[in-house]
Amino acid sequence: MTEYERMSAALRGEPVDRAPVWFMRQAGRYLPEYMAIRKEVSFLELCGDSDLSCEVTIQPIDRFGLDAAIVFSDILTIPEAMGREVTFTKGMGPRLPNPVRTAADVASLKRPDVADALTVVPETLKKFRAARPDIPILGFAGAPFTLLCYMVEGSGSKNWLGPKSMMFEQPETAKKLLDLLADVVGDYLQLQIDSGAVAVQMFDTWAGVLSGEDYRRWALPAAARAMARVKGAPRIYFTRDSSPFLPWLAETGADVMGLDWRVDLPRARKILGDMPIQGNMDPVALYAPKEDIQARVKKILAQAGPRGHVFNLGHGVLPTTPISGVEAMIEAVKQSSAA
Ligand code: CP3
Repeated sequence: MTEYERMSAALRGEPVDRAPVWFMRQAGRYLPEYMAIRKEVSFLELCGDSDLSCEVTIQPIDRFGLDAAIVFSDILTIPEAMGREVTFTKGMGPRLPNPVRTAADVASLKRPDVADALTVVPETLKKFRAARPDIPILGFAGAPFTLLCYMVEGSGSKNWLGPKSMMFEQPETAKKLLDLLADVVGDYLQLQIDSGAVAVQMFDTWAGVLSGEDYRRWALPAAARAMARVKGAPRIYFTRDSSPFLPWLAETGADVMGLDWRVDLPRARKILGDMPIQGNMDPVALYAPKEDIQARVKKILAQAGPRGHVFNLGHGVLPTTPISGVEAMIEAVKQSSAA
């Protein structure tokens, strides 16, 4: 099978010769060729230039021979397009100096026309398709709840007090913001499919800070509202804390579930049935000896079964990850074959 056929089939639960493999943050700081570009330009400059973004997207594909690319960008381009400045400083993560805290702040946000306001990723997708026509490329966006987290808090956080207290103290304001974000996220994912993405992934990284009840009241309906706007290619939903939410994940309307490393795959299969899954090796396991990595890959492949599985990490690869660990993981997946 070609990479394109393998990925398309796995995302739809159709037979494959083996599970396709790609991984979150596969372009990034653990690669010396990425750091060479980052010496010359800032992260935001990189995200704002489709030629450079395309080059960085290709780096892990050519180095490792992966089955899929993910377009290089960031989830915080959407808040930017809605009129909120976003900055990145070394070691500090993202900052939004003008956070959204009140009903008036929400009313001040732009509802951008995504095709006018978010042009770099569609351009990057088209350039990648021209440069590597055999390799499928994924588009992505942050999920509404996870974007709300950054926009209200103004930075990363452990407890996300700002966003959670907005939901509990000003539920109408939080709902308005989630609805607005869902519509923009949905349109942006559709734009990426229309620009050649084989599938799109929605990152609901921080949904796990909510109780099951609050997840179902806030994050889940917002994710479902965004998903409902997207047609024509498989839609993947990822959250970093999937285990407590497994029984409800299908209500997002997604076609494929991205699972973190703490999910017990036999249990996930029991609950999700035939729904294709993606995951779920612990990113820190890439620091382990080669034999250990191989054994872990084998176990995940066996537990996921021969159909409807896209091999991935359970979250993004870390900047200090040894490249030899990444190579061992990919090699182990490629040596396997679906029974
Ligand atoms: O997966 C990929 O290779 C595609 C590119 C991608 C990036 N960010 C590049 C990036 C994707 C899909 C994202 C998504 C993203 N961004 C998420 C959701 C996924 C997740 O990781 O949970 C979130 C929460 C963000 C917000 C964000 N961007 C944070 C918190 C940070 C800083 C964290 C850190 O590791 O320092 C970023 C910066 C960022 N996004 C980098 C990259 C390669 C590092 C920037 C650099 O080169 O300095």
